[in-house]
Amino acid sequence: MDYKITLLPGDGIGPEVVGEAVRVLEKVASKYNHTFDFQERLMGGCSIDKYGSSLTDETLADCVASDSVLLGAVGGPKWDDPKAKDRPERGLLALRKGLGVFANLRPVKVHPALVEWSPLKPEKLKGVDILVIRELTGGLYFGFPKGRDVKDGRERAVDTLEYYDYEIKRIMKLAFDLAKRRKKKVTSVDKANVLESSRLWRQIATQMGKENLEIELEHTLVDTAAMKLITGPAWMDVVVTENMFGDILTDEASVLAGSMGMLPSASLGESSVGLYEPIHGSAPDIAGKGIANPVGTILSTALMLRHSFKLEAEAQSIEKAVEQTITDGARTADIGGKLSTRQMADEISKRL
Ligand code: IPM
Ligand code: MG
Repeated sequence: MDYKITLLPGDGIGPEVVGEAVRVLEKVASKYNHTFDFQERLMGGCSIDKYGSSLTDETLADCVASDSVLLGAVGGPKWDDPKAKDRPERGLLALRKGLGVFANLRPVKVHPALVEWSPLKPEKLKGVDILVIRELTGGLYFGFPKGRDVKDGRERAVDTLEYYDYEIKRIMKLAFDLAKRRKKKVTSVDKANVLESSRLWRQIATQMGKENLEIELEHTLVDTAAMKLITGPAWMDVVVTENMFGDILTDEASVLAGSMGMLPSASLGESSVGLYEPIHGSAPDIAGKGIANPVGTILSTALMLRHSFKLEAEAQSIEKAVEQTITDGARTADIGGKLSTRQMADEISKRL
């Protein structure tokens, strides 16, 4: 089969990790007889530099018209001016909204060989296999009013945490559906003791829990969830939460896996065009050095094969190759080794 993939390498280490993930995909293509047509576009800071916009209409249209999108990372100190009218991150948010990818799947697994690399005690990490489902197109990131003004002589800034019932329902439905294929447990994370939006979130989760009685539904306040992720992560399976809580909790959860560089993500919506990206950022401090960990991006391509193209065997072949590579001791600097981005990807390719 023929698949059209738009590449958005972005800024910082983005181009390095995306470049290696493409080489892995090419290997999969030749092994399984598929054709991946890659088209590369600018998004983020690099797009501001060239076009004056972090995401142009043309680039968004090209993404919408392709079968899936692979993104590296966006942002960096160059575009950090708080007064700038556009920022790399705005492009990413506009892309998520434009593609309608409301569900961000962030699987967190701990490779046994990396247990000693995590700051947590090994016994806490045993059996950790969590799927965080982060709502991606609502909440504080997108709510209005949003902005700054001067009120009563004081400078003021406002963000709005807004959720509609349908936004909560569709992400909960996905959480229950995915839980059915896993341990039949959903942990819904909110702040219902304080936030009105969380009370609606919990009300809908509870209603849907009654329609999915085979699933054990647990409600956890976000502050407690942050603690439990560290003290008892093996108790969690499917975790579903609003946009910003999910952003924060998944950075925390990446510590379990040993490094941010290890974790992939898939962003899905009603259409089959998915957006795939590692959860890490553009890491300007190591950009251009060729030492970034490509695993998060390579595992994101496995999620692409699984979710957008329904190529389960191919997806598993990548995941198994990564697993074997780590088992065999191949390591980039973030997980205690010396391999370059290219060498790490080569080790994975070799095992495909
Ligand atoms: C992430 C990132 C983004 C987010 C930033 C870069 C806008 O932190 O994907 O987790 O907050 O969603
Ligand atoms: Mg984040």
